[in-house]
Amino acid sequence: MSNYHIKHLEEYFQVYRKSVQHPEAFWEEIAEEHFVWRSKWDRVLSWDFTKPEVKWFEGAELNITENCLDRHLPTKRNSTAIIFEPNDPQEEAQHITYGQLHERVCRMANVLKESGINKGDRVCVYLPMIPELAYTVLACARIGAIHSVVFAGFSSNALAARINDCDCKMVVTSDGSFRGNKIIDLKGIVDAALEDCPGVEKVLVAKRTGGKITMKKNRDYWLKPLLNDAYADNDAERMKAEDPLFILYTSGSTGKPKGMVHTSGGYMVYTAYTFKNVFQYREGDVYWCTADIGWITGHSYIIYGPLANGATTVMFEGVPSYPDYGRFWAVVEKHKVNQFYTAPTAIRALAKENLEYVEKYDLSSLKVLGSVGEPINEEAWHWYNNNIGHGKSPIVDTWWQTETGGIMITPLPYVTPTTPTYATLPFIGIQPALMDEEGNEIMGIQVDGRLCIKFPWPSMARTIWGDHERYRDTYFTAYKNNYFTGDGALRDEVGYYRITGRVDDVIIVSGHNLGTAPIEDSINEHPAVAESAIVGFPHDIKGNALYGFVILKEIGEARDRDNLRKEINQQITEHIGPIAKLDKIQFVPGLPKTRSGKIMRRILRKIASKDTENLGDISTLLNPEVVKEIMDNTL
Ligand code: PRX
Repeated sequence: MSNYHIKHLEEYFQVYRKSVQHPEAFWEEIAEEHFVWRSKWDRVLSWDFTKPEVKWFEGAELNITENCLDRHLPTKRNSTAIIFEPNDPQEEAQHITYGQLHERVCRMANVLKESGINKGDRVCVYLPMIPELAYTVLACARIGAIHSVVFAGFSSNALAARINDCDCKMVVTSDGSFRGNKIIDLKGIVDAALEDCPGVEKVLVAKRTGGKITMKKNRDYWLKPLLNDAYADNDAERMKAEDPLFILYTSGSTGKPKGMVHTSGGYMVYTAYTFKNVFQYREGDVYWCTADIGWITGHSYIIYGPLANGATTVMFEGVPSYPDYGRFWAVVEKHKVNQFYTAPTAIRALAKENLEYVEKYDLSSLKVLGSVGEPINEEAWHWYNNNIGHGKSPIVDTWWQTETGGIMITPLPYVTPTTPTYATLPFIGIQPALMDEEGNEIMGIQVDGRLCIKFPWPSMARTIWGDHERYRDTYFTAYKNNYFTGDGALRDEVGYYRITGRVDDVIIVSGHNLGTAPIEDSINEHPAVAESAIVGFPHDIKGNALYGFVILKEIGEARDRDNLRKEINQQITEHIGPIAKLDKIQFVPGLPKTRSGKIMRRILRKIASKDTENLGDISTLLNPEVVKEIMDNTL
């Protein structure tokens, strides 16, 4: 029996049991039957969470792009691989076939090689959601270069930090990008970043907006003529299963962003297998994930997972509100989308608008609705279910992380009965555990604790680029022999999981992970600021928004408060990006601290959320009097 496509609940339980009782035999069968390898593995899995070291399919060789492209050519050369839907609905959509995608990726691979990029080199990709982004990512994978995609909403400082952290030799970007009715000068941002990036030798520039930019001699090259001149064929590099495929940065609660390293073989197997089952993708379906390829969701479920299955995947350049709030539904109707995958923040934003924006469109093609990135609240779940799915398309609330590479806890549509706000059951092969604060596993049902994973899965990140110790400390020390996710969860009476949110200092704003420390560092650099603390508070659309408590230096005291607020947000925008701006900034005389000098964020969180009835014991604070003062002046 092939376990590749699970179609009913009994089968899920049966396959799940097999996958945890005999993980190696299970994954070996999936890998062998559904992918092409240049050479087979010597060993399916070796692992040791204390080091930590995890290897899947060791000794095997493959190229992920042969699995995503070449092997589909005999049957799918003229089938659509990518539908590119531009920002402006007046501009024609592009249907890129597997044959065309293969050719363009090969050309791009040759361009990279001729530009001096070798196997193992890092290439930074700072592009909007245009087809060149897909070509570049796949071309890197084809020649064995490691792509590091940086979301094109990050500032030049954030971009420079990411380029330098992994020593990128090249940046691939565009002249600009369209986002709704805005044009963003991406090349200008890259130019500013590169002033601090001595290691970057070449910049390739795709033309998108036609805006005026400067091209630096002997460094910057237009992409188009290079692609036109390049050979249309390229022999894919033989990659080891454990060779790095890409680096993707994610915020931690402290310190600089973490460059999560994903490898080739296991990542391919797991993203493809989850894609097939979590979206119940069938031949001929049109699948659309609205994420940006700058995030893991786009890597795994716009590019690699769908293409490894020979699927048709939509790449959308625009935003849900342009030209109006009906855009998502217009695109669903236009391309007859069957599976639609988005974030709760987008659902909440659209649910606030008039229903006419939805009702104008024919959404009858939809079969599966997905949610990712943060907990989906009950109200948003029902709105999505009633108005988009008309009660007929199951909602898959998929829990996972940049670090996990693929979906970990999720219903399978038409297989697992769903319950609002529950991610439900672990995916095949995933062994979750809930832990108490002492590090003991909490068994049984109707319990809650910290969510860990007990056993390796093929697409887990293998390290943090350049800092294996941090990888161990962050994920593998809190709970011995377990991967710690940083999330809290509960398990209900039928064994379903519900994710309750982060238990560390990461705040999820509009589905984006933001660590408090880098934002505080940025605020503290303002000359008028002495100290600051950031916490999250509930927000109708964003899920959480940021609340900053800021202590001013003497020079700040005399300044206009609204101006200072603007300057602080401007500074955050420059250092990190507009997504990290604060919704509220309260100037305070002090911050509640323990006697050892640690800021008591728990108290600040309660104040920011206006939940001050039960603040707990504050008598042990170094400065309990400051709490009342802050409470009296909350915003
Ligand atoms: O807190 C969880 C939340 O998003 C975090 C991971 O963020 P990131 O690495 O940016 O990846 C997001 C896309 C995979 C998790 O630790 N999260 C993600 N999905 C869900 C979720 N929280 C609740 N429910 C979800 N479905």
